[in-house]
Amino acid sequence: MEQQRKIGLFDSGLGGLTVLKALDQVMPDVPKIYFGDTLHLPYGDKSNDAIIGYSMRIVEFLMHQGCDIIVIACNSASAAAGAALEEAFPKLTFVNVIDPVVDALAQGPHEKIGLLGTRATVRSGAYSSRLKAKNDGLELCSLSTPLLVPLIEDGFLGTGIDKSVLQHYLAHPSLQGIQALVPGCTHYPLLEDLAREELKDVHWVDAPAIVAQAVLSAWHANFESQESAQGSEPMIQYYLSDKTESFLELAKQTFGIQAQWRTISLP
Ligand code: DGL
Repeated sequence: MEQQRKIGLFDSGLGGLTVLKALDQVMPDVPKIYFGDTLHLPYGDKSNDAIIGYSMRIVEFLMHQGCDIIVIACNSASAAAGAALEEAFPKLTFVNVIDPVVDALAQGPHEKIGLLGTRATVRSGAYSSRLKAKNDGLELCSLSTPLLVPLIEDGFLGTGIDKSVLQHYLAHPSLQGIQALVPGCTHYPLLEDLAREELKDVHWVDAPAIVAQAVLSAWHANFESQESAQGSEPMIQYYLSDKTESFLELAKQTFGIQAQWRTISLP
């Protein structure tokens, strides 16, 4: 009997859960394993070498858990480690969170696009170079917003402090006149309501939904049918590299996750 296929997703912490949530809406019957590398959070302030090292070990782990498709549910890791991972694990199918969004943007209609991201993502220039290669008539204005991830992971959503910090970033001169805004970090969709309030006429790009569709396409391209799960394992398994009460509380509050999180220390 053919083994049940699985999708592995990883991020530095909570952010990749925005992608998991969107993916679970379009592929509810496929088992998934989520890994949050909380021990090394935030990725956005680390060097490329460090991000590559963490990502390699996580993908190795997910592969040994039987994952066939790996969703790099982190922009910083997609930018810094995407190519290295594809080279190191040629048998796995990877979906990163940058290319599907770039493909969608390249089709228009927005000509001046803003992007908020971590330092690692903005420094990489991954969005701008890939977008330019697909459509060089578009202007992308990227801003690194390093306070946003710690703010979300430390539980400041909905406190008003999140609003002030976001307002501060959105007032940056480079973002004036944008027609669309990309949350270039998988944590940022959690700020969608605030951002929409601030930028009423600006289109908010639903990056998790775009990525979820890309995973579905990759699944159909690689595996003939989307089999339903029949195993006894839970449909989604959750792992962390470091478990703290505050993280568990936040995952419960923000995503309604009650399931057990297992801690695993990777070599
Ligand atoms: N959520 C991640 C991203 O998309 C990482 C944020 C961080 O750990 O700095 O970039």
